[in-house]
Amino acid sequence: MKSSAVQNFFKLSIDNRIAILKEFLDLNEEETMILKNLCTLGFDKLEAIGENPVSNYELPLRIANYFKINGTDYFIPMVVEEASVVAGACYGAKLCYKSGGIKASTIKNSKYSKAIGQIQLIRIENPQKIANEILENKNNLLEKANEGHKHSRAYDIKTKHYTANKEEMLIVDIYIDSGHAMGAAVATQMAEAVAKEISKLTNTPYNACIISNYSGRHVRAEAKIYVEDLARKSTSGKWWTGEEVRDGIIWLSRWAEKDVYRAATHNKGIMNGVDAVALATGQDWRAIESANHVFAMRNGHYRPLSTWRSEGNYLFGELEMLIPCGIVGGEIKKLPKAEFAIKKILRVKSADELAEIMASVGLAQNLAALSMLATIGLKEGHEPHRKISK
Ligand code: MEV
Repeated sequence: MKSSAVQNFFKLSIDNRIAILKEFLDLNEEETMILKNLCTLGFDKLEAIGENPVSNYELPLRIANYFKINGTDYFIPMVVEEASVVAGACYGAKLCYKSGGIKASTIKNSKYSKAIGQIQLIRIENPQKIANEILENKNNLLEKANEGHKHSRAYDIKTKHYTANKEEMLIVDIYIDSGHAMGAAVATQMAEAVAKEISKLTNTPYNACIISNYSGRHVRAEAKIYVEDLARKSTSGKWWTGEEVRDGIIWLSRWAEKDVYRAATHNKGIMNGVDAVALATGQDWRAIESANHVFAMRNGHYRPLSTWRSEGNYLFGELEMLIPCGIVGGEIKKLPKAEFAIKKILRVKSADELAEIMASVGLAQNLAALSMLATIGLKEGHEPHRKISK
């Protein structure tokens, strides 16, 4: 029987790895060429990316236009298989553009930390005593955490105590300003350094150290849209006035606030845009997803990340979310198009700016989805724009 238990598969050249797949999967020459010929990155670059590559995978790099964020115009790089996502982002952004664009900011005094490193201490006899020892030595522990880190700074340490199966564990959270990096590597490194120090100090072994994915840049985006601009028409010629669309959007927002089944879909629409920018810019989009799973629950029940209401002649929308992202570190350097997207397309100067862009795309995406649902519906809304102008 053929086996996938190939020893040292990770050490093989890409050619050899493909040869093994060819044999195992009974691929013919033509099928094998799908891996080889469509590897646009080239085997050398692919090899440098590490761990078991056999090809690179094509998703379209699309550009969304009409984005004005904090007074600056952007073309937004989005990597996503679904064309309607980018069509939606452009539609939402265009509505916002007409009334001055989207305002976005990073909340500087947020209680959410850009990055958090966690340490688990287990089978503790006297958790209160150990917690006190840790907190009394907070400054020394922070100094240890910060040793060798020029661009990131641990600034606080907190402890939490839990009982599980009648045994005690103590969790140590290290709060970190990760500068322009997302901070995953730094958070784990700092947690490891502090864990060793705590072990010495308290004579307690630790079980594990890892980043908490309930962290990230806390961003806010808001937009005001002239009600009259919301009016739209279906392909069959049916018209909705601006007021009708505004009201439909507000009813959808209220529905999401009351019903978690709707809130999950409402938030999925936001993540359609956020994830596509995250992918285009080489971010860990799973981290953005998991941060916002918990963020959406921060008040005890799952809520929409954005809400919409009427304000005079405008529809007003606001969104808050956590965006763990970076413009340095991570995998960005190894991914030429991600680096290009950050430096040459978006030309962002800081990771906060990138986070603000992502939140703005999420808000525009959400606006487009709600406008579509309240009027033409998903089927017509997902029909591709076929017109190509030369
Ligand atoms: C589909 O990918 C996203 C929507 O379902 C979002 C929403 O319902 O708000 C259209």
